[in-house]
Amino acid sequence: MTTATGTTRATGAVGTARTRVEGLDKVTGKARYAGEVPFADLAHGWIVVSTVARGRIRSIDDAPVREMPGVLAVLHHGNAPRLQENFVGTMGPDPVAEILQRDRVPHVGAPVALVVAETSEQAREAAEALVVAYDTEPHDVAFDPEHPGRYTPEATVQGPAVTEKGDLEAGLAASAVVVDELYTTPEQHHNAMEPHAAMARWDGGRLEVVDTSQGTMMTANDLAALFQLDPESVRVRSEHVGGGFGSKGWVRAHNVLAVMAATVVGRPVRVVLTRRQVFSLTGYRSPTAQRVRLGADADGRLRALDHDGISLTSTLTEFVEATGAFGRAMYEAEALRTANHVVALDVPTPTFMRAPGEAPGSFALESALDELAEKCGIDPIELRARNEPAVGPVTGLPFADRELLTCFREGARRFGWDGRDPRPGVRREGRWLLGTGTAAATFPAGVAPSTAAVTAEADGSFTVRINAADVGTGARTAIAQVAADALAADPQRVRVRIGDSDLGRAWLSGGSMGTRSWGWAVMAAASELRERLALSADLPPEGITVRSDTTEAVGALAERERHSYGAQFAEVAVDVGTGEVRVRRMLGIFAAGRIVNPLTARSQFVGGMIWGLSMALHEEAFRDRVSGGLANGDLAGYHFAANADVPVIEADWVHDPDPDDPVGIKGIGEIGIVGAAAAIANAVRHATGVRHRALPIRPDRVL
Ligand code: MOS
Repeated sequence: MTTATGTTRATGAVGTARTRVEGLDKVTGKARYAGEVPFADLAHGWIVVSTVARGRIRSIDDAPVREMPGVLAVLHHGNAPRLQENFVGTMGPDPVAEILQRDRVPHVGAPVALVVAETSEQAREAAEALVVAYDTEPHDVAFDPEHPGRYTPEATVQGPAVTEKGDLEAGLAASAVVVDELYTTPEQHHNAMEPHAAMARWDGGRLEVVDTSQGTMMTANDLAALFQLDPESVRVRSEHVGGGFGSKGWVRAHNVLAVMAATVVGRPVRVVLTRRQVFSLTGYRSPTAQRVRLGADADGRLRALDHDGISLTSTLTEFVEATGAFGRAMYEAEALRTANHVVALDVPTPTFMRAPGEAPGSFALESALDELAEKCGIDPIELRARNEPAVGPVTGLPFADRELLTCFREGARRFGWDGRDPRPGVRREGRWLLGTGTAAATFPAGVAPSTAAVTAEADGSFTVRINAADVGTGARTAIAQVAADALAADPQRVRVRIGDSDLGRAWLSGGSMGTRSWGWAVMAAASELRERLALSADLPPEGITVRSDTTEAVGALAERERHSYGAQFAEVAVDVGTGEVRVRRMLGIFAAGRIVNPLTARSQFVGGMIWGLSMALHEEAFRDRVSGGLANGDLAGYHFAANADVPVIEADWVHDPDPDDPVGIKGIGEIGIVGAAAAIANAVRHATGVRHRALPIRPDRVL
């Protein structure tokens, strides 16, 4: 077994640890984020949001506010620019199409007005003075696992609503050991460090938007469609991004409202969301309840597996948290059923967040596997080994490769799993009970078509142009490394331009598919450029540029079950007096393709595992049934792991290049969270003897 650090070629750029190319700009404050790029004559918009969960706007008393100092405009449903009816964005129908279009109020925290003023302070003061009256209607925000009847099965981008093979009930009835439990996860929010912000201006007939974005291609296309513009006349830029986690993929209220305001006042306008607005306007992860039924023979071999999840969506557009997707990828069982159900409530529309589907899905199924292992008296790793599928359990496709057990073997060795006493509640250290747990991880390894241009400059340097996004992960650096390898050049001589929709079509930083999709396009252009350079004696003053488009190559990929895998390990200490759970250490071993930059890749894996720790112990948004709004929609009330909560976390990987990818990449952005919360919950069970099926594992639940 080798780690990626041992596999290098050409110049050794790919597989070599490199610090971020923009690191100096970031730590010296030279790197500018969307909310701080200066523009002459800039005006400021402040969003007013609804305070009721369902009803109609009766009146907006904007006359006094228009007289306030610095106020330039008050936009609302009565006067705002019209958006395309029945808008369908890149990712389908989108709730932004409703913004300031009608008097209907769909949830607490929906935009009802935008105040535009000379300064941000003036806009805020006027926005807070604006009186909006509502006719309210009874609302329903209750996510209710006790009444699954009102949840309907729905398909998602991750697959069909329901998959079924074999006779589930017969399989369960014939099983010597059965686990049948309900697992729940709460509403969770992305909370990128940088709140959403956008500046919009009209410049010679072109609309220019400076945004914070996981990928400007979709935002540009969607803004063009919403405002009925020629796509060529819309340019969206996003140079530096302070995190996204799924909340910054395409159009959102801030960029739509900035465009509306710039159109109305004829000046550049910036809209920055407050943290509270981020909670209601940028998507979130739906709460989930998942019933898992496992039936096995006494030796742990599964006869039946049923993974059935419910989640919620809004009344505006549908988003389904596809927890069942996880059960489709993991284990062999003669009878296998998975399902995703959803109900529409008077809440904001949820969206993709940190391994959507797989993160909560793995909590449920990997907890249930642990329960089964205990019932069968089998080591949890051995149980997983006994249920390894030969082909995709639902697709029936051959695996491109599946190194799950390699991850478990390496992880067990490094974590010190062998010799573990499986009995719960037997290790004690003063007031602390100690336990260890493990869980499996997987995430699809996808790729999407992208275009790139690579230029050999006359001075001997190279420029890569690709509309990639660096959300803080180190994408720029990885792209430079891929290009340097293909060009047999020093990465220092490769300049990378990203974050601009004028650079052409490219996938976003999402679905763990960014570096893979961009790397493919950059590799294609750079390889061809290197061949061209070998043939040409002199470079013209404008250099030589080669462009690539991977649409055909990506479309011709062999049909195989293509995933990354991982093994998660955790050790916890539980204070039996206070109910406090402390994670003492975590180890994740991943098989996630060729690792381009071990330094930034390790940070991504560890970051993902910290999301998992945070999900296991801290994160939870409370939706109040009376008001319909969040009781803790800010960073004072919504807890996530801080430095003191994060112990030594180790992440490493096994050799696992994708056989069909020109660079060998699979994608590493999200797999770190998958299985991490289950490993912690399984460790808490081992420590205390108590099984926690509801996240987060709060002190009051432990006691
Ligand atoms: Mo992600 S949830 O693919 O940004």
